[in-house]
Amino acid sequence: MFKIVNRKEMAQGTVILNEIEAPLIANKAKPGQFVILKADETGERIPLTMANTNPEKGTITIIYMVVGKSTARFKTLKVGDSYMDVIGPLGKATDIEKVGKVVCVGGGTGVAVMHPITRANKLIGNDVTCIIGAKTKDLLILEDEMRAASHRLIVCTDDGSYGKPGFVTEALKEVLEANKDIKMCYAIGPVPMMKFVSKMTKEYNVPTIVSLNPIMVDGTGMCGGCRVTVGGETKFACVDGPEFDGHKVDYDELFSRLASYFEDEKKCMEEYCKLAEAAAKL
Ligand SMILES: Cc1cc2nc3c(=O)[nH]c(=O)nc-3n(C[C@H](O)[C@H](O)[C@H](O)COP(=O)(O)OP(=O)(O)OC[C@H]3O[C@@H](n4cnc5c(N)ncnc54)[C@H](O)[C@@H]3O)c2cc1C
Ligand code: FES
Repeated sequence: MFKIVNRKEMAQGTVILNEIEAPLIANKAKPGQFVILKADETGERIPLTMANTNPEKGTITIIYMVVGKSTARFKTLKVGDSYMDVIGPLGKATDIEKVGKVVCVGGGTGVAVMHPITRANKLIGNDVTCIIGAKTKDLLILEDEMRAASHRLIVCTDDGSYGKPGFVTEALKEVLEANKDIKMCYAIGPVPMMKFVSKMTKEYNVPTIVSLNPIMVDGTGMCGGCRVTVGGETKFACVDGPEFDGHKVDYDELFSRLASYFEDEKKCMEEYCKLAEAAAKL
């Protein structure tokens, strides 16, 4: 069992942070790697990236958005409760080298995944500009942490309620125009965001790493559920990734595969909400 030792709600309760006791994973994990969690015996296996690790304390931190039945079930877990299974570290770690100027672009909960990558880039000696975005001010996460992890931070909101109005791509264009010597871009967030960031950095000839989030089941390269097309080749995101060359990913295929179970997921969530409502009345 993997006990929750710290829990925080962010973005009006739509995003949850859990710090979990998992000493073996905390000891081995590197930025960019993920775990697969199960709340209980009948629970679904859910992949989540580690936003932080603390080897001394023996804990890992996950930050997830509540989007469906399993993440809604996770949200009911309080400090002192445990996940039944946490498997990891899975996937390849982010390849971070001292290259000079880098730009890190994070959107939505992708900001949580970007946090350890940003910090590692600063620690190795790169000059880090960070751009983070959310639909609206109330949904923005980890602003203080990202400011500390980078040399400069640009905050964007789609509706202009905070920071720079507009999408992260608009801020990225300005950064790329003003810094012709940027050597690397990391982009993590919704699939359309990664697609358009990659399209832009290709025009500026800046190598770009994206972290893909296809549907995963086993997380060890056996089921094929997480297959993505990169540079015309089939890759398994759980073992070959989850990070890939952003200029080579077939984003449209990824987007359509992610929506494959939309109707079933909707039905599951509706049934879960009905059951939760009935249980609350008892
Ligand atoms: C390597 C990896 C790292 C991830 N890291 C994070 C993270 O740090 N924070 C975060 O908020 N989310 C992360 N995700 C996405 C997260 O796994 C999904 O949001 C979660 O599985 C949704 O499950 P659900 O039952 O709550 O929602 P559902 O209603 O079942 O599904 C909602 C949507 O989530 C996606 N999804 C559903 N099942 C899976 C699955 N087994 N594997 C992957 N995606 C699925 C699909 O796009 C689906 O349409 C990551 C995904 C991957 C593959
Ligand atoms: S999740 Fe099964 S092969 Fe990747």
